[in-house]
Parts: sequence; structure tokens; C-alpha cells
Amino acid sequence: MADHRLPAAIRAPFEARTWREFGYLVLGLPIGVLTFGLAVSLVSAGAGLLITFLGIPVLAGCLAMCRGLGAVERARARGLLGLDVAAPAPVRGRTGGALSWMGAMLKSGASWRHLLYALIHMPWAIFAFSVAVPFMAWGWSLFTYPLWQWVFPMYAGQDGLQLYGDGSHDFYLDSPFEIAVTSLVGLLFVLCTPWVVRSLTVVDRLLVAGLLGPSRMANRVTELEKDRGVVVDTAASDLRRIERDLHDGAQARLVALAMDLGLAKEKLNEDPRAAARMVEEAHGEVKTALQELRDLARGIHPAVLTDRGLDAALSAVASRCTVPVSVEVDLPARPVPAIEGIAYFTVSELLQNVSKHSGARRAWVDVWRSGSRLMLQVRDDGRGGADAAVGSGLAGLTERLDAVDGVLAVDSPAGGPTTVTAELPWRV
Ligand SMILES: Nc1ncnc2c1ncn2[C@@H]1O[C@H](COP(=O)(O)OP(=O)(O)OP(=O)(O)O)[C@@H](O)[C@H]1O
Ligand SMILES: [Mg+2]
Repeated sequence: MADHRLPAAIRAPFEARTWREFGYLVLGLPIGVLTFGLAVSLVSAGAGLLITFLGIPVLAGCLAMCRGLGAVERARARGLLGLDVAAPAPVRGRTGGALSWMGAMLKSGASWRHLLYALIHMPWAIFAFSVAVPFMAWGWSLFTYPLWQWVFPMYAGQDGLQLYGDGSHDFYLDSPFEIAVTSLVGLLFVLCTPWVVRSLTVVDRLLVAGLLGPSRMANRVTELEKDRGVVVDTAASDLRRIERDLHDGAQARLVALAMDLGLAKEKLNEDPRAAARMVEEAHGEVKTALQELRDLARGIHPAVLTDRGLDAALSAVASRCTVPVSVEVDLPARPVPAIEGIAYFTVSELLQNVSKHSGARRAWVDVWRSGSRLMLQVRDDGRGGADAAVGSGLAGLTERLDAVDGVLAVDSPAGGPTTVTAELPWRV
């Protein structure tokens, strides 16, 4: 443990990160004072003018300025602290006029949070500056004390100045022990400084992230909008698939059936035997169409999944694959229907890919639980080269999983084999 820490502790004072953080704290003082000064004077002017109409534009202007300064602060935090905080949504009036813009500015929570930042950042910046700068300055000047003594001996230790009666004077140096102790104390400061600086910037990080970012509600809305987009897209692609399946499958069969029956009707009187054969064929067509309709319905809502769970449903999907598939499902309980459904569709798309593209001789499906995640993996010994950028299947899966905080990892080098692993949240 100690030998891991020691090098880090010794490296820290020289690391760019420490100096960037220190620079952040030093810059904080002038920026804090400037922002505070501007904000306080504009807010008090605006508040004073509120009895006349003028107060409102002044206040709105003040908030707009605070938002502008907030952008500078976000950029400073991004550049020097590596803290990425998104900008809040821009303020837009309903009509695009100046009045509605002012109204929107005054009503926006983010604007007031920026003003709050302008007000409370300064006292903190002063405190942080007055802790960090002395630490850094004292540390380094004491640590390098022997060097100073050597370069400028006359400044060393005022006590060393010896005046004589005739006006001449002499210097003598601090004892080596004193020099060593001074330097050691300096070294201690130097070693502490990175941690002091880092701890101080924690507060800055909290201030920037807490007050200058988009509101939690806005974040949530963005997330929900994205989720809804995914749901709509999924629904649309499901509809397209159903349309395609109906068109190529059942509809084509029914057309053939209508033609067969039409011919049979014509033949009924002149050649009853041929007609009987045709009716028989038509009967076969009806059975196939029925089977396809059933499959289609199962694709929309896999009844076997609802009734008997993932194990049975995946075995049914596997049996439709063109290569032999071994299915292993090892789950302690049944996950919620939404997760079960996504797991089912994921495996079914991956096995379709195995049938269509892999040229494999075998495939394996594994489903298991790992902590708070439901894991599933589909492997084949085929030619590999699966690429989510090519078709819509894998890309669609990625999006579907994304909507529930899941992940899809495709490992498919050219020449094979292909392993696709999906991770879903485990919810029961
Ligand atoms: N198991 C696999 N083995 C080899 N190549 C694969 C495998 N799975 C996918 N691929 C390759 O990756 C591409 C992308 O697959 P994806 O499922 O995204 O699209 P698709 O199957 O071509 O079309 P869609 O799924 O929309 O009908 C495929 O076109 C295929 O070339
Ligand atoms: Mg596919």
C-alpha cells in the first residue's frame, strides 16, 4: 500500500493536473470579484428601479450577463478541472419579442442559479485563493531555501548581519542544521499542497456542477424525449416489419389461394378431378398461411414467452434457426416482462443474423444473471465480420438496449468467431 502511495505523493506536486487546479483557484479570485461586483451592482440597480418599468430590463440584463459569465466559468472548469458541465437550455421568449424574452429570462430557474453562483462564488474564491497561494508560495520558497542561500547569501537570515563600529559589516550563514530543517518544512508544505488544492477544487466542482448546469428537470425531460424517440422508432420499425411479413407471407399465400380457387371453380364442371386436386393444393396454402399468421402474431407478442418464460421461448426461437443451437438459461427468477421481452427480441435478432450471415455450423445462447445485470450471449463459429454500422438489426438492438440502460458488445473479427454480449438491468 505504502509503496503505491509514495510515488503518487511525490509525483503530485509536479503533475500538470495540480498546476491546472492551482491555476483555477488563482484565476477564481479576479473572476469571482468581477462577477460578484457586476452582479451585485446590477441586481441592486434593477431592484431599485423596479418601481419604474426600467428595473425589469436591468434585472433581465443582469441575469443574461450572469449566464454569459457562467459560460466562461464552465469553460474554465472544463479546461482546468476537466469537469464537463452541459449548458442549460437557452432562454427563448414565446413570441420572439424583447418583452417575452425578458419574461422568460426572469422566469428561468437556471438564470437565477447563475446569479446565485455569481454571489456565492466570490467569498469561496477569496478563501480558496488565500489558502492555496500561501501553501504553494511558502512550500516552494522554504523548500528551495538552501538554493536561495547559495545564490543570494546576503539575504539569508537577518540575524546573520553583523555590524562593526567602523560601519563595515559581515554576514554569516545559517547553520546547516537550520537550513535542512527549513527545507524539510518546505518539503512538507510542497507535498501537502496538491491535496489541499484538490480538496479546495472539490467545492468549486460542486458549485459549477450544481449551479451552472441544466436543471435536473430539464435533464430528465431530455432523457424522456430520447426514450420516447426510441419507443416511437421501435414501434415504427415493428410496424414496417409486420407490414413486410404480411406482404411477403400471408398476403402472397392468400393471393395464390384465390387464384387456385378461381381455377378450381372454372374446372369444377369440365374436370372435377383436376378441380379436386386444386382444392387440395389450396387447402395446403391455407394451412401455410395460417401457420405464417400464427408466427407473425407470435413475433408481435410471443405467447410462449408470456406463458412459459425465457427458457422455453428461446428454445422455440433456436429451433427456427438454420444451424443447431444450444440454449442455456440460468436465471433465479423471471425478470419483469419488459426486460424479458427485450432479451427475447435480442436473441431472436442475433439468431436471425446467425442464420442469414454467419455460415456457422453451431451456435450457442447463454442467459445468466450477474449481480444487478441480466447477461445474454449469442455465439457462433461462423465467418465473423458482424458490423452494427452495416444493417439496421444490430443498430436497432443497441438503441433498444440503450433505452433501458443496457449495453450491446459485438466481438466479431473477420474470419470469426462471432460473440455478441448484451447486458440488461436485472429487474424482477
Ligand atoms: N453472426 C454473424 N456472423 C457474420 N456476420 C454477421 C453476423 N451478424 C451480423 N453480421 C454482419 O453484420 C451486418 C449487420 O447486421 P445487422 O443485423 O445490423 O443487419 P442485417 O442483418 O444485414 O439487416 P436486418 O437485421 O436489418 O435485417 C450484416 O449485414 C452482416 O454482414
Ligand atoms: Mg440482422
